[in-house]
Amino acid sequence: MGKIVRVAGPVVVAKGMRGSQMYELVKVGELNLIGEIIRLQEDLATVQVYEETSGLRPGEKVVGTGQLLSVELGPGLLTQIYDGIQRPLEIIKESTGDFIARGVSAPALPRGKKWSFIPKAKAGSKVVGGDLLGEVPETPLVTHKVMVPPDVEGVLEDIAPEGEYTIEDVIAKVRTPDGSVRELTMMQRWPVRKPRPYKVKLDPVEPLLTGQRIIDALFPIAKGGTAAIPGGFGTGKTVTQHQLAQWAGAKVIVYIGCGERGNEMTEMLERFPELKDPKTGRPLMERTVMIANTSNMPVAAREASVYTGVTLAEYFRDMGYDVALMADST
Ligand SMILES: Nc1ncnc2c1ncn2[C@@H]1O[C@H](COP(=O)(O)OP(=O)(O)O)[C@@H](O)[C@H]1O
Ligand SMILES: [Mg+2]
Repeated sequence: MGKIVRVAGPVVVAKGMRGSQMYELVKVGELNLIGEIIRLQEDLATVQVYEETSGLRPGEKVVGTGQLLSVELGPGLLTQIYDGIQRPLEIIKESTGDFIARGVSAPALPRGKKWSFIPKAKAGSKVVGGDLLGEVPETPLVTHKVMVPPDVEGVLEDIAPEGEYTIEDVIAKVRTPDGSVRELTMMQRWPVRKPRPYKVKLDPVEPLLTGQRIIDALFPIAKGGTAAIPGGFGTGKTVTQHQLAQWAGAKVIVYIGCGERGNEMTEMLERFPELKDPKTGRPLMERTVMIANTSNMPVAAREASVYTGVTLAEYFRDMGYDVALMADST
């Protein structure tokens, strides 16, 4: 545990932090504001705080959590609206009201909810990270694939029969090469700044049909590729991205709103949930995860939100789905 020596906007310097690691998540001050260590020098740690720091004083405590900024991955991601560090905004609103109180935390994935799990792997088989364990019909539009986490391999000793489970129930046991048994649940955690591993990176050779003739004809985008929409205020960037979310040839949409102003964010949060999936007419949110940087969070949180979004997108990519990730800045 360290003590704050200096506060400069969202950046806090704390002493007595020897033994911490880079990008470790810390709780800052009496309010337990969430921050991340961005620099370590002897026993001094520079912390980027992801919440408003007014009122914070030198001498207050800074406590390391021993964890990197991570996200929870599992059934329950779709239809959610998270902030940049994966706090579920709807649930926080229910508990603290329209303004997010500082230092609030809530689990990203619902803990009590039961999902129907259909096993797809056989006990006795060899498994490695990424192998399919079972399926969960998460929303009417997307079947969630429960996978072996990337760092696990071994022999599948036991797999749960078809039934209803929460994301904390053990649904599989894997005996690893060192002889120990890893109990797996439907939830994984993954540090946002670490790319999720893959076996091969495919060349972007297939076009992404965006459904917008002007883009497909004049500015074609490849699946696996990247594109930017530059433009002044009110020139249609947000509208274009909403169209892409609806019509582009992707199964899952991760939409990050990094808008600077509250009114734009509000507009996005109001409009997006009204969008429909063109194929089924069902709400587009059933195949979307949305990340919204609330206006009471400092600039640094917007950077974190992009990493959070990318990690969620990589997770759905690992299931074999085409994912479109969008970051809308104004
Ligand atoms: N293709 C279009 N045709 C007609 N109106 C549009 C079109 N694209 C955007 N608009 C209108 O322009 C306004 C600003 O668009 P928006 O996407 O919010 O801009 P930006 O995100 O670039 O600031 C919106 O009210 C929207 O309805
Ligand atoms: Mg906009």
